[in-house]
Amino acid sequence: MNEDVFAGHEALTFDDLLVVPDWSEVLPADVDLSTDLAGIELQTPLMSAAMDTVTEAPLAIAIARVGGIGVLHRNLSIVDQTAEVERVKLAQAGMIAAPISLSPQASLSEAEVLMATHKISGVPICESDGRLVGILTNRDVRFCTLDEYAKPVTDFMTSEPLVTAPLGTDLDEAIAILHRHRIEKLPLVDEHGVLAGLITVKDIAKRIEYPNSTVDDAGRLRVAAAIGVTDTIERAEALVAAGVDMLVVDTAHGHSAGVVSALEAIKMRFPEPVLIAGNVVTADGVEMLVSAGADVVKVGVGAGSICTTRVVAGAGMPQMTAIFDCARAARELGVPLIADGGIVASGDIVKAFVAGAAAVMLGNLLAGVDEAPGELELVEGAMWKTYRGMGSAGAMRGRASDRYGSGQSSGKHVAEGVEARVRYSGSLAEFVGQLTGGLRSGMGYAGAATLADLQHRARLVRVTGAGLRESHPHDVAVVRDDWAT
Ligand code: XMP
Repeated sequence: MNEDVFAGHEALTFDDLLVVPDWSEVLPADVDLSTDLAGIELQTPLMSAAMDTVTEAPLAIAIARVGGIGVLHRNLSIVDQTAEVERVKLAQAGMIAAPISLSPQASLSEAEVLMATHKISGVPICESDGRLVGILTNRDVRFCTLDEYAKPVTDFMTSEPLVTAPLGTDLDEAIAILHRHRIEKLPLVDEHGVLAGLITVKDIAKRIEYPNSTVDDAGRLRVAAAIGVTDTIERAEALVAAGVDMLVVDTAHGHSAGVVSALEAIKMRFPEPVLIAGNVVTADGVEMLVSAGADVVKVGVGAGSICTTRVVAGAGMPQMTAIFDCARAARELGVPLIADGGIVASGDIVKAFVAGAAAVMLGNLLAGVDEAPGELELVEGAMWKTYRGMGSAGAMRGRASDRYGSGQSSGKHVAEGVEARVRYSGSLAEFVGQLTGGLRSGMGYAGAATLADLQHRARLVRVTGAGLRESHPHDVAVVRDDWAT
C-alpha cells in the first residue's frame, strides 16, 4: 500500500462554503466583469461547455454577443465542426476583409443564386484584376422580370455614382458616409481601385446592439472549438483554417500522456490560437499541461451535473478544492484557469472566482436556453430541454468517445455520464443577465470592484449541513422558484 495514500486534506465544494460579506463601497451595477484568457479579453467571464446538447453555432453566437465565448463540441465530423466555426465567424463582421464578388459578365440569375446561398443582400462587381466597377444590391433587382435574369449584372448594378471609401476607413467614418449617402453597403478600395473590404449597415447595427461582444481584430465574433486526442492535428488544422480563436483539448483526464503529446504537437504546428487543456484537479496536473504548451488550464473531474465519473471510477475532486489547489500552481505560472463543472447557481460562479478561476464553464445552466440544440419538451406542465453528459451512452455513440478512455480495449464504452433534461430557461441573453446579476451582487457583498479584487480580498467560510439548509428557502412552501439561478 502507498503510505501516502490519503491526499492529505479534506476536499470541499460549492455548497460547503459561503463568501463572507465584507466592507463595501462597490455598487453591483458598477463592477467590472472583464477577464483575460491568455490575450483574449471577455467582458463576461462565461464559457459554454463543449457538449452536444449545449454548444453549436447558435449558442456560440449568442454567448459571444453578450461578452462570453462558446466552445463548439466535437461530437461532429471535422467538416461539420469546421462549418460551425464558419457560421459563427460569418455571423457578423466589423469589416468584411474578403467580400464575395462577381465579374461584370455574370448574369443576374448567377447573382441571385450567390446572394441566396450566402444570405447576403448585395454583391460588389469586380473586373478580373479586382478593380471595383459597381455594386448590385437587393434594391437594384427588386422588380426584375423573369426574362431579365439572363442579362449581365452590369445592366442592373449601381455604378455611377459609386460610393466607396479608402482602405483603413474606421467604423465612425464609415457610419457617416453610409448616412450621408443613405446607402447600406460601403466598399473599401485600395489606391488602384481594387476592392479590399466591405462595411455593411447590418454589421454596424450588431456592433451597436451588442457593445460587449467578444470579437476578433476583424470585428468577427470569437469562438472556441474542442478537439480530442485521436484526430487531433487534422481537426485542429481545419478549425484553424476556418478562423477558430481557441482550441480546447477536451478530455476527462488531462493529466495523462495522450493529452501531453497532443498539446506538444498542436503548439508546434498551430502557435496562433489560444490553447486550452484539461481537465485536471491538482497542481501537478496544471504544471504538466502548462509545460506541454497549454496557455489556459481547465479544472474539474466529476463535478458536472450529468457526470457519474466519481461513482463509476471512484475518482475525482470536489470542485472548490480542485480550483483552489490548481489556482495556486497556475498563479505561479501566470496561467489563467477555467472552472468547469458543478455550477448550478450564480452564487457558485462567485465562489469559483474567489477560489481562483479566471472564467467559468457552464453546461447545465446553458442547456435550457433557446439557443442550445434540441427541441422543447413539455413534461407534467413544465418546459424542458435535453441535456446529456458527453460520457453518457447516447453521446458516446458519436465521435467524442475518446474523451473517456475507459473500456475501449474491450470495444465497449463504460458510460461516465447520464442522459437528462433541464428546465427551459428562455433566451441566452436574458438568462446570462440573471447569472451576471448574481455575480455582480456577490462582488458587492465582498466589496470587490473587479474579479481580481474578488480573488484578493474575499474570504470563505465553511458551512454545516444546518447552515446549508438555512441558505436555501426553508419552512415555506415555495410558489415560484426563480431564486435557483
Ligand atoms: P455542468 O455541471 O455545468 O458540467 O453540467 C459541465 C461539464 O461536465 C463535464 N462533462 C462530463 N463529465 N461525464 C463526466 O464525468 C460526462 O458524461 C460529462 N459530460 C460533460 C464537462 O467538463 C462539462 O463542461
